Amino acid sequence: MKFPYSTAFAALGMVASYAAYAAAPAVTNAVKARQASYKEIGGAFKSINDELKSGSPDMNSVKPLARDIAARAVLLPKYFPKGSGPESGLKTRAKPEIWKDNATFVKLQGDMITAARALDMAAASGNVAGLGSARTALGGACKSCHDRFRTEQ
Ligand code: HEC
Repeated sequence: MKFPYSTAFAALGMVASYAAYAAAPAVTNAVKARQASYKEIGGAFKSINDELKSGSPDMNSVKPLARDIAARAVLLPKYFPKGSGPESGLKTRAKPEIWKDNATFVKLQGDMITAARALDMAAASGNVAGLGSARTALGGACKSCHDRFRTEQ
């Protein structure tokens, strides 16, 4: 079968514009990674809150959850490469302000890392009162960033 040149060029053109439109794999992976990680963090944080609400938290279940949040928090900064905002065409709640005011975003991420480490340490030491206040501080860190840098659902 023989195609006229025009068909071949049209097909090439489609491939080229698709490549220009589709987000680079590294960007897609970063968006997927941060969403999956925040989801895990959200679930772990909720479980810790539920334990605290019970009045006598089971530290054996709290410890690995707090450890997981702290480990994930450290990795999050690298999941926000330039170009991974709404302009990527991907489904994301990351606001363009993340890259416009990156210093503030990075600072809030740093606050989260610090607060998550404190939560991990309180859980590891089995200090229930300390766990309660570390939880409140971490919750504040989540909210400060979401209010400013995450769109409503
Ligand atoms: C420095 C900013 C920042 C901090 C701190 C932060 N988040 Fe987020 N979070 C975001 C952004 C931005 C998104 C949207 C990501 C996307 O859609 O690409 C998000 C998304 C989420 C999601 C939705 C994930 C999904 O797609 O299903 C959950 C749940 C979440 N965060 C929980 C938390 C919790 C819990 C904390 C604190 C322990 C926290 N976040 C701290 C910025 C932050």
